[in-house]
Amino acid sequence: MPNGKLITFEGIDGSGKSTQAKILYERLLEEHHDCELFREPGGTPLGEQVRVILLNQPEKIGIIAELLLFSAARAELVRLVIEPMLERGCIVLLDRFTDSTTAYQGYGRGIDLELVKSVNDAATQGIKPDLTFLFDVTAEDGLRRHDRHHDRIEQEGVQFMEKVRQGYLTVAKGDPARVVVVDGGREVEDLTIEVWNKVEVLLTRNTLF
Ligand code: ADP
Ligand code: TYD
Repeated sequence: MPNGKLITFEGIDGSGKSTQAKILYERLLEEHHDCELFREPGGTPLGEQVRVILLNQPEKIGIIAELLLFSAARAELVRLVIEPMLERGCIVLLDRFTDSTTAYQGYGRGIDLELVKSVNDAATQGIKPDLTFLFDVTAEDGLRRHDRHHDRIEQEGVQFMEKVRQGYLTVAKGDPARVVVVDGGREVEDLTIEVWNKVEVLLTRNTLF
Protein backbone atom coordinates (compact mmCIF):
# COMPACT_ATOMS: atom_id res chain seq x y z
CA MET A 1 0.00 0.00 0.00
CA PRO A 2 1.42 3.39 -0.91
CA ASN A 3 1.96 5.46 2.21
CA GLY A 4 2.90 8.77 0.59
CA LYS A 5 1.27 11.96 1.82
CA LEU A 6 -0.01 14.96 -0.06
CA ILE A 7 0.09 18.27 1.81
CA THR A 8 -1.17 21.41 0.09
CA PHE A 9 -0.62 25.10 0.87
CA GLU A 10 -3.38 27.49 -0.06
CA GLY A 11 -4.31 31.12 0.33
CA ILE A 12 -4.65 34.35 -1.58
CA ASP A 13 -1.60 35.96 -3.16
CA GLY A 14 0.75 37.24 -0.46
CA SER A 15 -0.75 35.06 2.29
CA GLY A 16 2.67 33.60 3.13
CA LYS A 17 1.99 30.04 2.00
CA SER A 18 5.11 29.68 -0.18
CA THR A 19 7.31 30.80 2.72
CA GLN A 20 5.81 28.11 4.96
CA ALA A 21 5.90 25.42 2.27
CA LYS A 22 9.65 26.01 1.78
CA ILE A 23 10.36 25.99 5.54
CA LEU A 24 8.46 22.70 5.98
CA TYR A 25 10.22 21.18 2.96
CA GLU A 26 13.64 22.01 4.43
CA ARG A 27 12.73 20.63 7.83
CA LEU A 28 11.43 17.37 6.35
CA LEU A 29 14.64 16.99 4.33
CA GLU A 30 16.74 17.68 7.43
CA GLU A 31 14.85 14.87 9.15
CA HIS A 32 15.62 12.57 6.20
CA HIS A 33 12.09 12.22 4.88
CA ASP A 34 11.53 11.44 1.22
CA CYS A 35 9.94 14.74 0.28
CA GLU A 36 9.34 16.97 -2.75
CA LEU A 37 7.95 20.49 -3.19
CA PHE A 38 6.16 21.78 -6.30
CA ARG A 39 4.27 24.92 -7.15
CA GLU A 40 1.21 25.15 -9.36
CA PRO A 41 1.05 25.81 -12.18
CA GLY A 42 4.40 24.14 -12.82
CA GLY A 43 6.40 21.02 -12.01
CA THR A 44 6.31 19.57 -15.55
CA PRO A 45 7.47 20.98 -18.90
CA LEU A 46 3.83 21.58 -19.90
CA GLY A 47 3.03 23.08 -16.51
CA GLU A 48 5.90 25.57 -16.75
CA GLN A 49 4.76 26.63 -20.24
CA VAL A 50 1.18 27.03 -19.01
CA ARG A 51 2.53 29.16 -16.17
CA VAL A 52 4.11 31.57 -18.65
CA ILE A 53 0.88 31.73 -20.70
CA LEU A 54 -1.34 32.27 -17.67
CA LEU A 55 0.70 34.55 -15.49
CA ASN A 56 3.07 36.57 -17.64
CA GLN A 57 0.93 37.38 -20.63
CA PRO A 58 -0.85 40.73 -20.73
CA GLU A 59 -3.66 39.62 -23.08
CA LYS A 60 -7.06 38.80 -21.67
CA ILE A 61 -7.79 35.09 -21.38
CA GLY A 62 -11.41 33.94 -21.14
CA ILE A 63 -12.41 32.48 -17.81
CA ILE A 64 -13.16 29.01 -19.17
CA ALA A 65 -9.85 28.88 -21.03
CA GLU A 66 -8.15 29.96 -17.80
CA LEU A 67 -9.90 27.18 -15.84
CA LEU A 68 -8.90 24.56 -18.41
CA LEU A 69 -5.29 25.75 -18.65
CA PHE A 70 -4.72 25.59 -14.89
CA SER A 71 -6.36 22.17 -14.92
CA ALA A 72 -4.35 20.90 -17.89
CA ALA A 73 -1.16 21.79 -16.02
CA ARG A 74 -2.50 20.00 -12.93
CA ALA A 75 -3.50 16.87 -14.85
CA GLU A 76 0.08 16.52 -16.10
CA LEU A 77 1.52 17.15 -12.65
CA VAL A 78 -0.75 14.49 -11.13
CA ARG A 79 -0.02 11.94 -13.86
CA LEU A 80 3.72 12.42 -14.24
CA VAL A 81 4.80 13.49 -10.77
CA ILE A 82 2.34 13.25 -7.88
CA GLU A 83 0.96 9.76 -8.51
CA PRO A 84 4.38 8.09 -8.90
CA MET A 85 5.76 9.95 -5.89
CA LEU A 86 2.86 8.98 -3.63
CA GLU A 87 3.28 5.40 -4.84
CA ARG A 88 6.91 5.39 -3.69
CA GLY A 89 5.90 6.76 -0.27
CA CYS A 90 7.05 10.36 -0.76
CA ILE A 91 5.67 13.36 1.15
CA VAL A 92 4.57 15.68 -1.64
CA LEU A 93 4.16 19.35 -0.76
CA LEU A 94 2.18 21.48 -3.18
CA ASP A 95 2.11 25.25 -3.26
CA ARG A 96 -1.51 25.44 -4.55
CA PHE A 97 -3.80 22.66 -5.79
CA THR A 98 -7.51 22.21 -6.54
CA ASP A 99 -8.71 24.58 -3.80
CA SER A 100 -6.99 27.39 -5.72
CA THR A 101 -9.17 26.63 -8.73
CA THR A 102 -12.32 26.49 -6.61
CA ALA A 103 -11.45 29.78 -4.90
CA TYR A 104 -10.08 31.76 -7.89
CA GLN A 105 -12.02 30.40 -10.88
CA GLY A 106 -15.16 29.38 -8.94
CA TYR A 107 -15.69 32.02 -6.28
CA GLY A 108 -13.43 34.70 -7.82
CA ARG A 109 -14.33 34.49 -11.52
CA GLY A 110 -17.85 33.19 -10.86
CA ILE A 111 -17.65 29.96 -12.87
CA ASP A 112 -20.34 27.45 -11.89
CA LEU A 113 -19.00 25.53 -8.89
CA GLU A 114 -20.27 22.18 -10.20
CA LEU A 115 -18.33 22.70 -13.41
CA VAL A 116 -15.21 23.62 -11.44
CA LYS A 117 -15.62 20.49 -9.33
CA SER A 118 -15.98 18.28 -12.41
CA VAL A 119 -12.86 19.74 -13.99
CA ASN A 120 -10.92 19.44 -10.71
CA ASP A 121 -11.99 15.79 -10.44
CA ALA A 122 -10.96 15.10 -14.03
CA ALA A 123 -7.51 16.63 -13.45
CA THR A 124 -6.81 14.84 -10.17
CA GLN A 125 -8.18 11.36 -10.91
CA GLY A 126 -9.19 10.73 -7.30
CA ILE A 127 -6.03 12.11 -5.68
CA LYS A 128 -6.91 14.24 -2.66
CA PRO A 129 -4.70 16.07 -0.18
CA ASP A 130 -4.24 14.40 3.21
CA LEU A 131 -3.82 17.83 4.76
CA THR A 132 -4.33 21.39 3.52
CA PHE A 133 -3.13 24.59 5.16
CA LEU A 134 -5.18 27.64 4.34
CA PHE A 135 -3.27 30.81 5.20
CA ASP A 136 -5.92 33.40 5.81
CA VAL A 137 -5.05 37.10 5.44
CA THR A 138 -7.18 40.03 4.37
CA ALA A 139 -7.06 40.95 0.69
CA GLU A 140 -5.40 44.26 1.61
CA ASP A 141 -2.65 42.57 3.62
CA GLY A 142 -2.03 40.00 0.90
CA LEU A 143 -1.73 42.58 -1.85
CA ARG A 144 0.48 44.81 0.30
CA ARG A 145 2.89 41.95 0.95
CA HIS A 146 2.98 41.09 -2.74
CA ASP A 147 3.74 44.68 -3.67
CA ARG A 148 6.92 44.01 -5.56
CA HIS A 149 5.53 42.27 -8.63
CA HIS A 150 2.00 41.81 -9.81
CA ASP A 151 1.11 39.02 -12.20
CA ARG A 152 -2.01 39.01 -14.39
CA ILE A 153 -4.28 37.51 -11.74
CA GLU A 154 -3.06 39.64 -8.86
CA GLN A 155 -3.86 42.73 -10.90
CA GLU A 156 -7.54 41.97 -10.35
CA GLY A 157 -7.34 43.96 -7.12
CA VAL A 158 -8.78 43.94 -3.62
CA GLN A 159 -12.41 43.15 -4.43
CA PHE A 160 -11.50 40.08 -6.45
CA MET A 161 -9.08 38.85 -3.78
CA GLU A 162 -11.70 39.27 -1.08
CA LYS A 163 -14.09 37.07 -3.08
CA VAL A 164 -11.32 34.50 -3.44
CA ARG A 165 -10.61 34.69 0.29
CA GLN A 166 -14.26 34.13 1.19
CA GLY A 167 -14.34 31.24 -1.28
CA TYR A 168 -11.40 29.62 0.46
CA LEU A 169 -13.07 30.01 3.85
CA THR A 170 -16.22 28.37 2.50
CA VAL A 171 -14.18 25.45 1.18
CA ALA A 172 -12.51 25.10 4.60
CA LYS A 173 -15.85 25.10 6.40
CA GLY A 174 -17.09 22.31 4.13
CA ASP A 175 -14.06 20.08 4.77
CA PRO A 176 -12.78 20.77 8.30
CA ALA A 177 -11.11 17.36 8.66
CA ARG A 178 -8.75 18.19 5.79
CA VAL A 179 -8.36 21.97 5.80
CA VAL A 180 -6.59 23.73 8.66
CA VAL A 181 -7.24 27.47 8.63
CA VAL A 182 -4.22 29.38 9.85
CA ASP A 183 -4.19 33.08 10.70
CA GLY A 184 -1.58 34.19 8.17
CA GLY A 185 -1.21 37.60 9.84
CA ARG A 186 1.03 36.10 12.53
CA GLU A 187 4.84 35.93 12.67
CA VAL A 188 6.59 33.51 10.30
CA GLU A 189 8.11 31.57 13.24
CA ASP A 190 4.73 31.09 14.98
CA LEU A 191 3.17 29.82 11.78
CA THR A 192 6.05 27.41 11.26
CA ILE A 193 5.42 25.85 14.68
CA GLU A 194 1.70 25.48 14.00
CA VAL A 195 2.35 23.86 10.63
CA TRP A 196 4.93 21.47 12.06
CA ASN A 197 2.63 20.35 14.89
CA LYS A 198 -0.10 19.38 12.41
CA VAL A 199 2.32 17.65 10.07
CA GLU A 200 3.81 15.65 12.93
CA VAL A 201 0.34 14.38 13.82
CA LEU A 202 -0.25 13.34 10.21
CA LEU A 203 3.08 11.53 9.97
CA THR A 204 2.68 9.82 13.33
CA ARG A 205 -0.79 8.65 12.37
CA ASN A 206 0.81 7.12 9.29
CA THR A 207 3.29 5.02 11.23
CA LEU A 208 0.61 3.63 13.57
CA PHE A 209 -1.21 1.67 10.84
P1 ADP B 1 2.39 33.61 -1.15
O1 ADP B 1 3.14 32.39 -1.59
O2 ADP B 1 1.20 33.26 -0.34
O3 ADP B 1 2.06 34.55 -2.27
P2 ADP B 1 4.89 34.38 0.14
O4 ADP B 1 5.22 33.28 1.08
O5 ADP B 1 5.62 34.46 -1.16
O6 ADP B 1 3.30 34.41 -0.13
O7 ADP B 1 5.04 35.75 0.95
C1 ADP B 1 4.76 37.01 0.35
C2 ADP B 1 5.64 38.07 1.03
O8 ADP B 1 5.27 38.19 2.40
C3 ADP B 1 7.12 37.75 1.02
O9 ADP B 1 7.83 38.96 0.87
C4 ADP B 1 7.37 37.12 2.38
O10 ADP B 1 8.69 37.33 2.83
C5 ADP B 1 6.39 37.87 3.26
N1 ADP B 1 5.85 37.04 4.36
C6 ADP B 1 5.63 35.70 4.34
N2 ADP B 1 5.10 35.29 5.51
C7 ADP B 1 4.97 36.39 6.29
C8 ADP B 1 4.47 36.63 7.63
N3 ADP B 1 3.99 35.63 8.39
N4 ADP B 1 4.48 37.88 8.09
C9 ADP B 1 4.95 38.90 7.33
N5 ADP B 1 5.43 38.76 6.07
C10 ADP B 1 5.44 37.52 5.56
P1 TYD C 1 2.03 32.56 -8.22
O1 TYD C 1 3.05 33.51 -8.73
O2 TYD C 1 2.42 31.15 -7.97
O3 TYD C 1 1.33 33.23 -6.98
P2 TYD C 1 1.58 33.03 -5.46
O4 TYD C 1 3.04 33.25 -5.21
O5 TYD C 1 0.71 34.05 -4.83
O6 TYD C 1 1.12 31.63 -5.18
O7 TYD C 1 0.81 32.64 -9.21
C1 TYD C 1 -0.23 31.80 -9.14
C2 TYD C 1 -1.45 32.64 -9.51
O8 TYD C 1 -2.37 31.82 -10.22
C3 TYD C 1 -2.15 33.17 -8.30
O9 TYD C 1 -2.64 34.48 -8.55
C4 TYD C 1 -3.34 32.24 -8.16
C5 TYD C 1 -3.62 31.80 -9.55
N1 TYD C 1 -4.22 30.47 -9.69
C6 TYD C 1 -5.55 30.36 -10.11
O10 TYD C 1 -6.22 31.38 -10.38
N2 TYD C 1 -6.10 29.12 -10.24
C7 TYD C 1 -5.40 27.97 -10.00
O11 TYD C 1 -5.93 26.85 -10.13
C8 TYD C 1 -4.02 28.10 -9.58
C9 TYD C 1 -3.19 26.88 -9.30
C10 TYD C 1 -3.48 29.36 -9.44
